[in-house]
Amino acid sequence: MDGVIKVGFFGCGNVGGGVYRLMNGFAKEIAHRTGLRFEVKKVLVRDVNKKRDVELPQEVLTSNVNDLLEDEEISIILEFLGGEEPAYSYLLAALQHGKTVVTANKVAFALHWHELQKAAKESGAGLYYEAAVCGAIPIIHTIEDSLQANRIDRLYGIVNGTTNYILTRMSKEGEEYADVLKDAQRLGLAEPDPASDVEGLDAAYKLSILASLAFHGRVPFENVYVEGITGVQAEDIRCGQELGYTLKLLAIAKREGLKVETRVHPTFIRDDHPMANINGAFNAVYLNGHACGEMMFMGRGAGDLPTASAIVSDLIRAASAPKHCYPTFENDLYPTVSLENNTDWRCSFYVRMLAQDQPGVLSSVAKTFADHNVSIAAMQQKGEVKNGRVTLVFITHAAYEKEMQAAVKEITPDVATVESLLRVEED
Ligand code: HSE
Repeated sequence: MDGVIKVGFFGCGNVGGGVYRLMNGFAKEIAHRTGLRFEVKKVLVRDVNKKRDVELPQEVLTSNVNDLLEDEEISIILEFLGGEEPAYSYLLAALQHGKTVVTANKVAFALHWHELQKAAKESGAGLYYEAAVCGAIPIIHTIEDSLQANRIDRLYGIVNGTTNYILTRMSKEGEEYADVLKDAQRLGLAEPDPASDVEGLDAAYKLSILASLAFHGRVPFENVYVEGITGVQAEDIRCGQELGYTLKLLAIAKREGLKVETRVHPTFIRDDHPMANINGAFNAVYLNGHACGEMMFMGRGAGDLPTASAIVSDLIRAASAPKHCYPTFENDLYPTVSLENNTDWRCSFYVRMLAQDQPGVLSSVAKTFADHNVSIAAMQQKGEVKNGRVTLVFITHAAYEKEMQAAVKEITPDVATVESLLRVEED
């Protein structure tokens, strides 16, 4: 078949199956719109005899990666293995063999972007990764291409659907974390091993990629501060709601000059912030550029067809590109001109404590805060006195992270115990 572009798959699970179905089911439209026709020539799987949801001709299946690498007809590889290895080694080998790669793998990409890009440039192959961040939302291409004429200084992401689903249920139904997680696992909305999602790592990989693109400089994964949602208590969500805040696992990236802060942690945002209404498993990215101003993108961050939407669009983009492009910044592991990692950011804080119900306790807490330049914006005393203690909730004005951490360490149990410390983004 002349003019047909032969592609290979690394892996064929849920997302691979969705890509195969979309490529076939939408083949006529793709050919009509672009003149391109594709054939899946080989699919690398662990077990060629395993029963699959998607109907693949048996002869395309192989468990030998060299069958794809050494097939000169295959010019594009689509990767759905996920995880760092063996995916990274296979992707690198594919690029070194001159094959263009389309990947959904945020882990291998975030950790080895510099090596993959180097190999791609050396062989002239393309490297496409729209599906690695936020599934169907075209945020990579938007930042890289459509917002080129901007200096982006701030980006907020809800980039993990599992945790957004859990926090939404906790917020709307007042349930505790462990109960919602169990239910989400039963419904197939959380992985049997949810660690990467609930501990914030999945979001941190994605933020490292987004921040690097947005700020035109390498922001390594190790520079992203990460705190997941496993310690979030329904009581804090409730107290925040009473003060007009919604809790989200926010991926935050800010730049001032060469200083960059990147952090993923549960964050209170104002109820009227557009990101506060991104519920369930939806993802969203909100950013500010000096020319475009504020913008928000929302959509499905996971699932077979939403992810396939990004992958097949990348495949078409890769096959139509007269010349492959790479991010313009110096993408070495340790670039000579590097962005500075700011670990002492400023933000407001929410603090819940159980304080002794005695004279002088409030002024003692206020003094400790003041000693660390933390200024109180609001305070509420909640509920009844229990065992001589009462719940106090504080919202502070913007303070330095390290000062705030030092302040809460200084509060001693004879005054109060700090039950929760959460960050608040006011803008
Ligand atoms: N596990 C991710 C999420 C989807 O829950 O959003 C894949 O990145």
